[in-house]
Amino acid sequence: MTLWGGRFADGPDATLWAFTTDDSDRRLLEVDIRGSIAHAMMLGATGIIGEDESADLVNALERLLADARDGTFEFAEGDEDVHSAVERRLGELVGPLAGKLHTGRSRNDQIATDLRLYLIEAGRERISRIHALVGQLVEMAERHLEVVIPTYTHLQQAQTTVLGDHLCAYAWMLLRDVGRFTDCLARVSESPLGAGASAGSSLPLDRKATAEALGFDRVMSNTLDAVASRDFVAEYAFSATQTMLHLSRLAEEIVLWTTSEFGWARLADSVATGSSAMPHKKNPDIAELVRGRSATAVGAITAIAGLQKGLPLTYNRDLQEDKRIIFSVDDILAGSLDAMGVLLAGLTFDPPTPRAETTSLDLADVLVGRGVPFREAHEIVGRVVRKLEEEGRAFSEVTDGDLASVDDRFQPGDAAVADPTESVRRRAVTERVREQIGEIRARLSP
Ligand code: ARG
Repeated sequence: MTLWGGRFADGPDATLWAFTTDDSDRRLLEVDIRGSIAHAMMLGATGIIGEDESADLVNALERLLADARDGTFEFAEGDEDVHSAVERRLGELVGPLAGKLHTGRSRNDQIATDLRLYLIEAGRERISRIHALVGQLVEMAERHLEVVIPTYTHLQQAQTTVLGDHLCAYAWMLLRDVGRFTDCLARVSESPLGAGASAGSSLPLDRKATAEALGFDRVMSNTLDAVASRDFVAEYAFSATQTMLHLSRLAEEIVLWTTSEFGWARLADSVATGSSAMPHKKNPDIAELVRGRSATAVGAITAIAGLQKGLPLTYNRDLQEDKRIIFSVDDILAGSLDAMGVLLAGLTFDPPTPRAETTSLDLADVLVGRGVPFREAHEIVGRVVRKLEEEGRAFSEVTDGDLASVDDRFQPGDAAVADPTESVRRRAVTERVREQIGEIRARLSP
């Protein structure tokens, strides 16, 4: 059913009807009904409608809410959107009284209210899933506090650290994502309800009461802003997409780590996939799909930005499209968080020792400790690297004699620094990672 018609002599053209309706807003069914319950209660409490009328509306809406929750709410072919569907069902239950529900309200403030309520709940749920993944990462980090690995810059071995440190890096990224979601939700938590079509109502609505009943932090003061703004959707999309980008980077590393070339990690059979052609293959498809789906998330940011650009105040039907966009990125995030949790649980690490060259900076620091300017120390260690290369020897074979032959400020025993395990020990990496794990855990359960 439509919520308009009086001024139209003809019904809508079928092709155009199909073009304008979009059932993606059906996901808002529950929040839409809850919004209506708060509105109907307020209409009764303020005397805008009778107390008994309000009670009858609320009772019927509670029934519809139960139907929505158990999946038995039935949409009809002709429902223009979720709001129309609820009003139609309400009419089937209470007759003409249903016509009083929309008093002092428009679909413009209603849809903004619905989407805000939906995103507050979805956002809280995503935060708890991100927390779970962070918890899993620090547990893995704790189990790999002594496993020496190279760091990479330019995808070339750079310095040494332990695997726990690398895993904690992702935990920190994801914690910042939680921070972004939290900041974003504080702005989502403002009530547009009562803004009406754009400039409020002549009826004595109690906007504070509906905002409180729905759990919003405050009422949006400007009614034009309330119905026209979608920066809250854009912020949510960015929070979700940045989280996806972090997951995608981790996914990319899992793809690399499980190659025969890297040989850092193995995937359990349950988290890998096979090839229809090559019997030997064991592929990291889950990681690839997380990486691939993040492309759609990146597109969502552009889409929601584009939707707002050049849109005059206040509500324009363009805004209907925000739902498709935000639901798709949010679904991708929820699915990817779950999948990454399972994937990480199926990963076993056994990385090879880093190349000895990863200690070159530590060797330069030895000279710096003896007063040599860093630039000069860098040059000297560079010469040691070149000497060994010219002699066809590995950096791991460097001796105190090699060092002394390049610079007399080297001392006996310095060659021992050129060992990745020693390098990690000298920088107390394991202790630092233990501290990080403590800090991260403290943030998980403040
Ligand atoms: N389906 C619309 C949306 O998602 C609901 C609001 C429609 N308002 C209107 N004036 N046509 O934005």
